[in-house]
Amino acid sequence: MPKLRLGINIDHIATVRNARNRDADAAPDLLRAAREAIKGGADGITFHLREDRRHVLDADVKHLCKNVTEPINLEMAATEEMKNIALRLRPHAVCLVPEKRKEVTTEGGLDAVKGGKKLACIVNELAAAGIRVSLFINPEAAQILAAWTSGAAAIELHTGTYANAKGSAQKRELKRLQWAATQAHKLGLEVHAGHGLTYDNVGPIAAIPEIAELNIGHFLVGDALFVGFAASVRQMRKLMDKARK
Ligand code: PXP
Repeated sequence: MPKLRLGINIDHIATVRNARNRDADAAPDLLRAAREAIKGGADGITFHLREDRRHVLDADVKHLCKNVTEPINLEMAATEEMKNIALRLRPHAVCLVPEKRKEVTTEGGLDAVKGGKKLACIVNELAAAGIRVSLFINPEAAQILAAWTSGAAAIELHTGTYANAKGSAQKRELKRLQWAATQAHKLGLEVHAGHGLTYDNVGPIAAIPEIAELNIGHFLVGDALFVGFAASVRQMRKLMDKARK
């Protein structure tokens, strides 16, 4: 099986910083966090520039795009404002996500069916600039087909429902994700997954052979309080590699 890439989401390092000081120079330093994650085995660094800038700020995005050595994956809403920022800063990748101001975190997949031609235009403009575009979607047939129709190179399957479920409901969700990964892969889409993944639930997701990349943040930032960021990323990497075998 090909090696599974690990993208580390550093949004919640910014949450801690912003609790005291919304300034790109304040502690904890996001660039240092990105470097620690890479030291621990991250293949890329992910962050979500939200409309309300509750995590990373515009200055962070600029600084990180310039200084992080590994590929950057910018999560953003499919809006003109965000598209223009991405076209200016040219991250390696963009993941288009739905965004509601009042949500605590991204609460579901993007509606790629509803996105239609408008979504396809944004995907194509970003792709024409050399940016790899993925759509964060729920594991549903119509969404996979719409993502493929939009011209996106990749999808990221929302694993939040799987992560929050228990017992047989979790097994059912896992089956849905396995099925969705196979379908998307058959269409030629690169398959990613993420949301709510932890040391305890990552194994079955990492074992899905069609999945090429996982994006993980909140749990690892929390565990880093006890073991350090590089160590929490290293432990996740180890569990992913074990599941892949
Ligand atoms: N992928 C996407 C598209 C997300 O929006 C998030 C949360 O920001 C993640 C992955 C990572 O989720 P978590 O922080 O729960 O690991």
